[in-house]
Amino acid sequence: MQPRSYHVITFGCQMNVHDSAWLGAALEARGFARAELADAEVVIINTCSVREKPEQKVMSALGRVRQATGGDGRVLVAVAGCVAQQLGAELFDRSPQVRLVAGSDGIAQAPLAIERLLAEPQARLALCAFTEAFPEKEGAPRRNGGPSALVTIMQGCDNFCAYCIVPFTRGRQKSRATPAILEECRERLAEGASEITLLGQNVNAFGRDKTGDGTSFFRLLEQVAALPGLRRLRYVTPHPKDMGPGDVAAFGSLPTLCPRLHLPLQAGSDAVLARMRRRYDSAGFLRLVEDLRAVRPDLALSTDLIVGFPGETEQDFQATLDMMEACGFMSSFSFCYSDRPGAAATRFPDKLPPEVQHERLQRLQALQDRLGQRWLDARAGQETTLLIEGRSPRKETAAQDRAEVSAVSCEDWQGRDPYGVPVHVPLPAGVNHTGSFIPVRIVEAKRHSLVGRTLPDSRA
Ligand code: SAH
Ligand code: SF4
Ligand code: F3S
Repeated sequence: MQPRSYHVITFGCQMNVHDSAWLGAALEARGFARAELADAEVVIINTCSVREKPEQKVMSALGRVRQATGGDGRVLVAVAGCVAQQLGAELFDRSPQVRLVAGSDGIAQAPLAIERLLAEPQARLALCAFTEAFPEKEGAPRRNGGPSALVTIMQGCDNFCAYCIVPFTRGRQKSRATPAILEECRERLAEGASEITLLGQNVNAFGRDKTGDGTSFFRLLEQVAALPGLRRLRYVTPHPKDMGPGDVAAFGSLPTLCPRLHLPLQAGSDAVLARMRRRYDSAGFLRLVEDLRAVRPDLALSTDLIVGFPGETEQDFQATLDMMEACGFMSSFSFCYSDRPGAAATRFPDKLPPEVQHERLQRLQALQDRLGQRWLDARAGQETTLLIEGRSPRKETAAQDRAEVSAVSCEDWQGRDPYGVPVHVPLPAGVNHTGSFIPVRIVEAKRHSLVGRTLPDSRA
C-alpha cells in the first residue's frame, strides 16, 4: 500500500517550528510520508498571530493549498497553532476545506485526530481547549534533528504585556516537569545532538506556576548543563524582569552556557515601558546588562523592539535608539506596533499614523545595521570554535582561502560560533563535517555572517 502523505506549512516562532517538526515525526511514526504540497493527502498549516495580518496570511495560505491540491475535498486540511486557537471553529465557516482546527494545547492530539478524520470523511474537529497541565507530546519518536536540538520547557505566558496576544493564544503559563525535560535532553544527546536550546515564551519564569515542580530555571539550567555529551546550551526567550541573580551568575559558572542572550527590550522610554506593562525600566535593564557583562564580558546581546506604540513621542523613540547604543545589541527583531485582538493596548488612545511608525522603524533598523556591522567587524582576527551545521548555502569563502587549507579540494561549510553567528569555512571535500566542532580564526566579516579559516593545529 502507498504510504499516506503529509505536508506542513509553518509560520511563527521557534516553538511553532519545533511543534511542526514534532507533528511531522508523529505522522511519520503513524506511517505517513512527507510530500510536496501538490502531492499531499494531509496539509497542516501551523499559524502565528503575534503580528500584523495573521488571519489574511492563513487565508492566503489556504488559497494556495486549494490551488495546489485541486480543492476537490480529497485533501485533509488542518489549521494548527495560535490563529487556530484564536479563531477556533470559526475557521470552518471561513474555509470549507478546513476539517481540523488544533489550538496550542490541541496540537498534541492532532496526529490521532488526523487518523480519525481520514476514517470519517464527513467529520470536522476543533481541539481548542487549554489543558491544565503541560501538554506532553507522546507516542512518536522525534526526528533526528542534527547537531542542535530544541527542547520545550514551558508553554504559555502570564505576563499580559499590553500589546501582546500570546497569553490569549498560548494560554496560562505551564511549566513542564523537570524529569520529562531531562529525559528529552538525554534522548537528543544520545541521538548525537551536542547543542540544546531550551524553549518557552518566558523561560526564566520556569517553575513559577501551579504546574511547576519546585525546580527554578537556574536549577534546571544546572541540571541540563551537567548532562554528559552536552557541549552548548542556549535558551529563548527570557523576560528581563525575571532574570534573577542565579540566571546572571550562570553565565559565569556554567561553561557550556553560550555567551549569547536574546533579551527583549521592546522600548527605551520608561513611560512607554510602563504603558506596555513590561515591569522594568531603562535603568533596571541597563543594570542587568552591566551585571551580565560583569560575569561574561564577551556576552553578545540581541533583542526585540516595538516601534510606534500608542502615544510614543519622538523623544520616547530617541530613548529606544539611545538604549540600543548603550546595550550594543548585535542584532534585533523590530516591528511596528499593531493592534492584536484581546490585548489591552488596542483600547489605548493616541495610535500613531503608519507613516510615522514606518519612518521610525527605518531609522531604528539603520542604527541596528551599524551596531550589527560594528559587532561583526570587531570579530575579525579572533579565534573561535564552530559547530558545523551543513554545507554553506553560498560560496562565501575566497578561492585563495580554499587553496590555502589544503592542496586537495575544499568545499564551503557553515557552522555557528558560540555567539550563534553563522560562519562560513572551507573544509576538505568528500567528508560530512556536520556535527563536528572546528576551531577557526575569523578572517572576514560579511553583512550578516562571518568567514573563518581552520587553525593549523585542527588540521593535524
Ligand atoms: N515572549 C517573548 C516573545 C513575544 S512575541 C517576549 O516576551 O519577548 C515576539 C515579539 O513580537 C515581541 O517581543 C514583540 O517585540 C513583538 N510583538 C508582540 N506583539 C506585538 C504587537 N502587537 N505589535 C508589534 N510587535 C509585537
Ligand atoms: Fe507577550 Fe509579554 Fe508574554 Fe512576551 S512576556 S509573550 S511579549 S505577554
Ligand atoms: Fe506567534 Fe504564537 Fe509563537 S502568536 S510568535 S506562534 S506563540
